[in-house]
Amino acid sequence: MSQTSSNITAIVGAQWGDEGKGKITDFFAGNSDYVVRFHGGNNAGHTVIVNGETYKLHLIPSGIVYGEPISVISNGVVIDPKALLEEIDYVKKKGISPKLLISDRAHVIMPYHVLLDGALSKHQGKLAAGSTGRGIAPVYADKMFRNGIRIVDLLEPDVLFEKLKKGYAFSKGIIEKALSQKVDISIEDIFVLYCGYGEKLRPYVKDTSVELFQALKKDKSILFEGAQGISLDVDHGIYPYTTSSNTAAGHISTGTGVSFRKIGRIIGVVKAYLSRVGESPLPSEVHGKTAKFLREKGLEYGTTTGRPRRVGWLDLVQVRQAVRVNGLTEIALTKIDILNGFDTIKICVAYNIDGNRVSEMPASLSSYRNAQPIYSLLDGWTELPDEIWNKGFDALPQSLKQYIKFIEKEVDCPIKIVSVGPQRHETIIR
Ligand code: IMP
Repeated sequence: MSQTSSNITAIVGAQWGDEGKGKITDFFAGNSDYVVRFHGGNNAGHTVIVNGETYKLHLIPSGIVYGEPISVISNGVVIDPKALLEEIDYVKKKGISPKLLISDRAHVIMPYHVLLDGALSKHQGKLAAGSTGRGIAPVYADKMFRNGIRIVDLLEPDVLFEKLKKGYAFSKGIIEKALSQKVDISIEDIFVLYCGYGEKLRPYVKDTSVELFQALKKDKSILFEGAQGISLDVDHGIYPYTTSSNTAAGHISTGTGVSFRKIGRIIGVVKAYLSRVGESPLPSEVHGKTAKFLREKGLEYGTTTGRPRRVGWLDLVQVRQAVRVNGLTEIALTKIDILNGFDTIKICVAYNIDGNRVSEMPASLSSYRNAQPIYSLLDGWTELPDEIWNKGFDALPQSLKQYIKFIEKEVDCPIKIVSVGPQRHETIIR
């Protein structure tokens, strides 16, 4: 398959993650030769539903469900080899033979990273982000300390042992001496285990930057699948309540080794309301009956941890930042069916911070803690017409079209995709 004008598309989260990126990625994957994850790890959880069958993925790109495109886990991703091997088995059991490539440069989550994640969260207390407990912050920290272990190292036992001695001693020291917790796995056990994982992963390991470069020369198409969302970006998000990678599209280049000059289309996925798993202030959060309704109807429980998600009204301060930082060319608006039946829908357009109207995300934590939502009230709609996906945008209720136009104007970005249900076909392209 090839497209001539823009053969690279990127899909990124424009909120707190869980916007429905898995579904939108799956929707586009059919026209892609490669689907590529460029950051994060198995902290992500992407749900794809096709023909009534549900697929829950954490590391392998959602494009795997199509079978045809090649799935790539690139160098910016952090890999827990045990979790990856389990996921490979999971997709095989679903009848898919994975066409998978793993970057030789991707960093590896070690058991001591997972232990350190838990110990660190306890230590951080009120400033902890509420991590998924998958070892994400420690593995990225080790990468920056130049203390990490890469996938290629799992294939070279001598190098693995040399690096493991340093990495293990370092994390064990922090966990036991600074954080007073116990490391109950020996270096020898880790070495044997990880050599074994290396052998199992060996057939998938490649220089994926070179692979993608050559694919582009042959005019192949690539879809980049983001994880998490803009407010979890370690630079632009609500720090320290973020994840430890850059979730923004800018990271595609360094996270894959494909130049940013080549990226054509950047789609930001926005859920019609807001959800958040983990800690941080959340200005447009709702509680009580409305929260229960949104959580139950929207099935807002973490794909990775099962935690009930906090929910709220759509926050356009956040989406405005997502448009700017990612350079979004368009928005995919998801889960609008969850809002069916509301008389009035609230949208947060700015914050009131100490009496000042603020329309861009503040960096100051005390400002964000004090931010009060300023809402616009829009008319709701009742139900969507039957099989609306066959009828197109014009058949949407008038008030829903107004709602869409309102968002476009506020954030200065067109909404070109509207998702009206969880299944692949329940999608309207404008
Ligand atoms: P970590 O990425 O596990 O270190 O978690 C840091 C923060 O990011 C926590 O608040 C998590 O709940 C949040 N987080 C990480 N991955 C996801 C995701 O895929 N969806 C939603 N939130 C996430």
